[in-house]
Formats: sequence, structure tokens, C-alpha cells
Amino acid sequence: MSVTDPLIEKATGTWIEALGRAARLGKSASSPVVEGVLTRMVGLTLEAVGCQAPIGASCDIVNPGGQRVEAEVVGFSGDSLFLMPTNEVRGLIPNARVIPTRQSSDIRVGPELLGRVIDGGGRPLDAKGPIYARHSTPLQGHEINPLERTPIREVLDVGVRAINALATIGRGQRMGLFAGSGVGKSVLLGMMTKFTEADIVVVGLIGERGREVKEFVEEILGEEGLKKSVVVAAPADSSPLLRIHGAMQATSIAEFFRDQGKHVLLLMDSLTRFAQAQREIALAIGEPPATKGYPPSVFARLPQLVERAGNGSHNSGSITAFYTVLVEGDDQADPIADSARAILDGHIVLSRQLAESGQYPAIDIESSISRLAPQITDPEHLKLTQQFKQIHSLYQQNRDLINLGAYQLGSDPAIDRAIDMQPEMNRFLTQDMHQPVAFNDSYNQLMETILTSTENTEQLSSMPTETSEQFSTQAVTSQ
Ligand SMILES: Nc1ncnc2c1ncn2[C@@H]1O[C@H](COP(=O)(O)OP(=O)(O)OP(=O)(O)O)[C@@H](O)[C@H]1O
Ligand SMILES: [Mg+2]
Repeated sequence: MSVTDPLIEKATGTWIEALGRAARLGKSASSPVVEGVLTRMVGLTLEAVGCQAPIGASCDIVNPGGQRVEAEVVGFSGDSLFLMPTNEVRGLIPNARVIPTRQSSDIRVGPELLGRVIDGGGRPLDAKGPIYARHSTPLQGHEINPLERTPIREVLDVGVRAINALATIGRGQRMGLFAGSGVGKSVLLGMMTKFTEADIVVVGLIGERGREVKEFVEEILGEEGLKKSVVVAAPADSSPLLRIHGAMQATSIAEFFRDQGKHVLLLMDSLTRFAQAQREIALAIGEPPATKGYPPSVFARLPQLVERAGNGSHNSGSITAFYTVLVEGDDQADPIADSARAILDGHIVLSRQLAESGQYPAIDIESSISRLAPQITDPEHLKLTQQFKQIHSLYQQNRDLINLGAYQLGSDPAIDRAIDMQPEMNRFLTQDMHQPVAFNDSYNQLMETILTSTENTEQLSSMPTETSEQFSTQAVTSQ
């Protein structure tokens, strides 16, 4: 029998084909899942042994009764995995089964999300049925090469006079709204949401009151506004992991629309609650606290989140972002406020004193700054801004003397001018929360305020001054 015998040839062919089929089947077969067991639960930290899963992977914890609790791997030590629940924990018992389900933390995104309100896990909170979003994107986002980012060149009209005129914001800028509790952060954020022109609005309501979610959707966005918006709500009572996911998810959704060439407005209320959620998780898995009770990972997470906003590379759109930052006890040196100030492109500071005196929005213009203003506004505008701030600041520095009557009119022409301009400046800074002021109007009104006062001062200085008046305390002057 020769080796080319057709029978042998046929058998060899069949054999090779069978091997090929087996190899293909082997490749497509899912690898076996190694289950573990729950060994420990302290607070919200769960410990499991016997299974392996990477950080960020999802697991189901199943009781003998069949109830499931979803959890995510947040750390490990030796053979133990540390998990945190993503939904409500009820009825867990020792040795419950721990089944790894998903290795990655990708989320579904797409235009199907427009007009919807979802929770930190992407589940719909409105009664509009399930969401079938077609695209998948990582929760952590894609890194953008800093050299490929389009520079910020265009002014963005936010509809708030004081911000448009005195802290001009550019399209693609990331701003912080800093204030103590109850000073008007959420209201100002709502004003900017309504007044700013954007193709898409993504709102992340993270760790704040649940009541505010409905208010935001119905009163601020309204039916029309909601059509081009996505709201991600992870209020204070949701697990720390869901609050973190909520903030990351809102950013991923904004990134998706930016990469489609849209101009996105991303609003996050609040960045502090995001940091506090990270602190809860880090402390629970044993990371030591460093600055004022915040472990180092918190300060690493903040820039990871904030850096994802901004302009994209050449052909993509932009994400202009506003993050509210709670300044505890109005302490501007709070570590989260300090860290946020360093990574954001500017900050609007709200003052409790102004709010208490009924001046809304309570923007403290001396402390507020937009780092991009010099690049995007013309020199004339910048000069007017500077003049306004100088005059306003001069009045503030001498306010106590003026109110006590210790300052005598005529002692310093610059202070006289500041006193003269004060009512006009306060009118300029005050704005009804339902009334937008366009960028051009803001600029014209700024010009009017400064120029009218200059004319008045010139008239004043040409009049004879009283010479015999004395003042007991040295006033701060304009020099
Ligand atoms: N522009 C405004 N006009 C009139 N009232 C305002 C304005 N902004 C804020 N307020 C008043 O201040 C209250 C608190 O505002 P807001 O909820 O925005 O504060 P917040 O800084 O977000 O507080 P928290 O830190 O507790 O979330 C409002 O309920 C409202 O009464
Ligand atoms: Mg608020």
C-alpha cells in the first residue's frame, strides 16, 4: 500500500478537519467561572476567597435562598478580594456564593439616552421603559493626548451677566463653583443650564438630595430642555460605588457625544460628594487617611475625572464642564476645594455674606477667576473687567470704615468714586434667576457702568472740594 492511497488521504483530511473544528469550538467556548465564597462583611466591605477577578470586575453574591447582591471588586489582599455592593445589601450570610460575572466596567451609551434619567448603574429611573443603547464605552474613558486637544478659543455665553463680563468662560473650559452649603451653587448651576447654548446637556447629580433630582428635571430642564439632556442621578442614599460610577458615567456619556462632534455642557453637582464617596471606599478597604481624613487615592481620582472634560482632538466637539465644590465651613483651604482649584480652569466663588444680604447670584467677583479669559476676550474687555474689580475691591476693603462713618467724603477721590459706583455695581452683579443676560449685553452693560461712573467722577472732581474735614482712621487707598 502506497502513502498516497486515496483512502488514507481521505481519512487524514477528515481528521484534520475534525481537529480544526474542535480548535474553533475550544476558542469560542467560555472559560469556566471559578466561584468563591463570602467570608467577611464589615460595614459595606465584603471579603471573598476562592475566586479571582480584576479590580473593577462585577460579581454576583448569591445566598442559598437565591437572592442576589451585585458587587464590584475594589481591592485585594493575599487571596482575599474586597468587594463593595452596587445595590442594596440585604440578607447576606457567611459562605454565600461569589460569582464573577463581568471582567470590565464598560457601559452602554448612545443617542437613546437623550431625554432619560438614569441611576449610577445606568438603569432608568423614569417610567419610560428600558434603554437599548447601541454603543459601548469604558467607564474610565479614553485618554486624550494633551498635544491633540484643540485649544480653547471661543467665548461661551452662559447667560449670567457677572460671569460673562467679569469671568468670561470659553467653550471647552472646566470651571468650579465654590461655596459653603446653601449659598446658591445649585441655583446658579441651574441658571447656566437653562441659559447656555449647547447641543447636549449631561447632568450628574452626585450625592446631593434626592428631592433635587425631580426639581432639576422638571423645573430647570423642563420638557424641551430634557429632550437634549441626559440626567445621571446618584443621590446621597445610594452606595458610594454608585456615586462614583454616576460621576464617571455622566463623563463617559459627555465624551461619547463630544466624539460625535457635539458641543456638550457637563454639570456635576457635586465634585465634593464624589471625593467623599471615594474616601468612604478607600477608608473601608484599609487605605490610611492623609490630608484631613482624605486618603491619597482621592486626590488621584479628582484629576482623573476632571481631565476627561474639555476639548477633544481635532474633529471632535467639546465638553464645557461645571463642577460644584462644597467648601465646608466656608473654609477655602479645604483639601478638596484646594485640589479642585488647582486642576480646574477657573473658579466662581459664592459668598455667604452676599447671599445673606440678598444679593443673588452671590458671586464674590474678587475671588472668582477664569484662567482662560485673557486668551478669549479682547484687551478692551479685559481692561474694563480689571477696572470693575479694582473699584469693587477698593470699596470692599474700606466698607467697614465707610459704614461706621469713619471715612470722610473727599479724602480720597478713588474711594469717593467707589462709593459713588457701589449701587450701580450691585445692580450689575444682581440678576433674577429666570432672566438670562446675553454675552454682548453683559459687555455693553459693563462698559456703561464703568464709563458712566468715569463721567460722574470727572464732573465731581471739577467741583470745589471741602477742605476742613478730618478722618480718624487711615483708609485703604487705590495705590
Ligand atoms: N439666584 C437666586 N435668587 C434667589 N434666591 C436664591 C438664588 N440662589 C439661591 N437662592 C436661595 O438660596 C437657597 C439655597 O440655594 P442652593 O440650593 O442653590 O444652595 P447650594 O449651595 O446648592 O446648597 P447645598 O450646598 O446645600 O446644596 C435657595 O433655596 C434659594 O432660596
Ligand atoms: Mg446644592
